Amino acid sequence: MTTITATTTTTTTAEPRSPENHAAELEHRIARDPGSFRVLTGDRPTGSLHLGHYFGSLRNRVRLQDLGVDVIVLIPDYQVITDRDTAERLAEYTDGLLLDYLALGIDPARSTVFCHSAVPALNQLMLPFLSLVSVAELNRNPTVKDEIAHSRQSTVSGLMLTYPVHQAADILSCKGNLVPVGRDQAPHLEVTRTIARRFNERYGRVFPEPDILLSAAPLLLGTDGTKMSKSRANSVPLSATADETARLIKGATTDADRLITYDPGARPNVSSLVLLAALCLDRDPHEVAAEIGDGGAAALKRTVTDAVNTHLAPFRARRAEYAKDLTYVRSVLRAGNERANALAEATLDEVREAMGAFR
Ligand code: TRP
Repeated sequence: MTTITATTTTTTTAEPRSPENHAAELEHRIARDPGSFRVLTGDRPTGSLHLGHYFGSLRNRVRLQDLGVDVIVLIPDYQVITDRDTAERLAEYTDGLLLDYLALGIDPARSTVFCHSAVPALNQLMLPFLSLVSVAELNRNPTVKDEIAHSRQSTVSGLMLTYPVHQAADILSCKGNLVPVGRDQAPHLEVTRTIARRFNERYGRVFPEPDILLSAAPLLLGTDGTKMSKSRANSVPLSATADETARLIKGATTDADRLITYDPGARPNVSSLVLLAALCLDRDPHEVAAEIGDGGAAALKRTVTDAVNTHLAPFRARRAEYAKDLTYVRSVLRAGNERANALAEATLDEVREAMGAFR
């Protein structure tokens, strides 16, 4: 087998590296030359975005956009059927995501929002990409294994097993080189990097090897004490009203100790609430806990509710304004789809050419 050495502008070391250490170095490079980065990231339209998304990733996207990075947000509608038979309420959830993005400050003049189903060239990359990974590699992906374990389906679909390959198509169709996601997505990013590297080795350099940018924000727990998730009915949606927010936080699991402390190891539920207030108030969680003192869970929940509602009030006001003009909101997606089509078609042309295929 002939191996073509890829000439790359990014590092191609094969040794495992710590994504945490890597994040600091990446931030320096972003600050120096934001224009050399293109972010590709997204949220499956399976529910409402919540506070966990906000502090874990949404805020960061707006920050990167404002630094001058080219931010592309994908609404992966096709991937909804990875672990369910049909895509329910797809149009409603897609509108909701668009409203959230716009209200949070994603600026359509600088950033792009698009969806899978509108970009055929992206999906065509699946075929050459599937040839670059082995079944054994797909079978060992820990995040896929976890999704299979939690799936509501009794059999594992081919789409589930090849999900990381489709995600590689998402990222590489636009030649994204920076992917800001949570830790659970690291194995998927490795698949993307592997596919990019193998394609480049086999056919000549077409793709960047994208870097993962791990979110620094710690995980927020849902109101039931497990990971906050849009499909588990344990989240505080960004779009909730102030009253709904109060009710949801009131129902959150706590413990019987009246003295409020910040100790995530020993008191995960109470600490997650303290952290949520601290993030909203931009304060140290130990200080927030100390101020509540021996007020117990009721005082803690009052503090959290006020902090969340105050922090989100401007966002919610903007969201309500956008909701009055869905024609405009949907036009943002249409324009984004157009740009994503242009990018993905150009990439597919390069892929065909590199593979020596007819056009
Ligand atoms: N897999 C991501 C998730 O479950 C969503 C996603 C789809 C994504 N395509 C992507 C994230 C491309 C980053 C880049 O949250």
